[in-house]
Order: sequence, then structure tokens, then C-alpha cells
Amino acid sequence: MHFHIVTIFPEMFNSYINESIIARAIKNKKISISIYNPRDYTIYKHKKVDDTPYGGGPGMVMAVDPMVRAVKKVQQKINRRKNKEKVKIIMTSPSGKDFTNEYSGKLIKNKYTDIIIICGRYEGIDARVKKIFKAEDVSIGNYVLTGGELPAMIMVDVIARRIPRVLGNIESLEENRVSSSEMYTRPEMYEYDGKKYKVPKVLLSGDHKKIEEWKKGRK
Ligand code: ADE
Repeated sequence: MHFHIVTIFPEMFNSYINESIIARAIKNKKISISIYNPRDYTIYKHKKVDDTPYGGGPGMVMAVDPMVRAVKKVQQKINRRKNKEKVKIIMTSPSGKDFTNEYSGKLIKNKYTDIIIICGRYEGIDARVKKIFKAEDVSIGNYVLTGGELPAMIMVDVIARRIPRVLGNIESLEENRVSSSEMYTRPEMYEYDGKKYKVPKVLLSGDHKKIEEWKKGRK
């Protein structure tokens, strides 16, 4: 799966991309993540990418042309691969369709090869971008963030971990096992502020049946 992120804040993705499971998935070529900054494609003075809204109102709107140029760049890159690409274009928006496990599952099941995520900012993106690319507005939850970068990272994370072999054997096993919200590791007893915090006895018992039952009860 190839992820393409269109954002005016590309640095935000650096640490996320270079850590842990996502970094390993990129290294193992299970996924790729490319970042495109509309500022690199704008032909406006001072690398401008936004403007005041028609009809008035507070804040700025991301202008259509720099966005279109950036997304076109992504499409050109995808088309150069000359494989059977299936591309989904998502636009982050607090008023979009809910991003759920089901939504991410469908993207995998429908065998999309490329997902373009356009990160919204300011008051919004000129509505023509969505029309031109037939993008789908998607929201990660019922709250308003300052921009679409965090939603984009969340979407990539949720989708990537569902791609076969992105999670290692142990991580997949952990997922499928009866897991509990309560986990412990050494020491068996931890003292804090005069109080003793002990690991539940059942976990030390070695009785796997009892342990599984206990975990179910903690879910
Ligand atoms: N941009 C701002 N808030 C958002 C949200 N909840 N989901 C997706 N994009 C957003």
C-alpha cells in the first residue's frame, strides 16, 4: 500500500514515520509513505497557498490551484508505476464520513494500491479540490482539530497495521489472543507512598485456564 500525504506541514510526519512498526513496514516495503507540500508547487507570490474566503468570514481558505498541482503530482507519480493502480482520495474534515475499523477494512478488502490523503488546514480547502478529484471527506472523530495532519497519521496507522505482515508474528498473536486492559511486569510488588501494589495472584499461578478467565473478566 502506498500512502501519499498532501500537507503544508510535512515535518509533522517525520518522527511518526521513522519509529517502530511503521518504520519497519516501510523498510520491509509493505508500505510506502510520500509527503507532498503544496508550497512546493504553488505558482503564487511568496509561495502562498491560502487566501481569504469569497463571501467573507473569518480565517483563510486553502486555494484550489496549489492543491490541484500537488495532487496532480501525486497522480503522475502513481501512473509512472504503470501497474494496475487503484487509488482512493481522502480529504480530512471534521464533518466527513466516520473513519472506523470498518472503513479501513474496506480499503484493504477493495485492494486499493494507493491512498492519497489531503490534509485540511485553516477554515478549509476550496471546495473545487474535492470536486475535481472526487475526494471523500473523512473524519476521525466528533471533535475539531487544528488540521488534518494528526487525522492523516491516525488513518495511516490504522490501515497499515491491517496489511498482512505489517505486524510481526508476536504482535499479531497478541492481537488475536484474549487480551486484557490490565497488564503487569516485574516486580511482583511495587511500593509507593507507603502502599503496596501487587500483581494479581492468578497471573503468577501458571494456571492458563484461570488466567484466560481472569483476562476475560478485565476486558
Ligand atoms: N480536521 C479537523 N478536525 C478533524 C477531524 N476530527 N477529523 C478529520 N479531520 C479533521
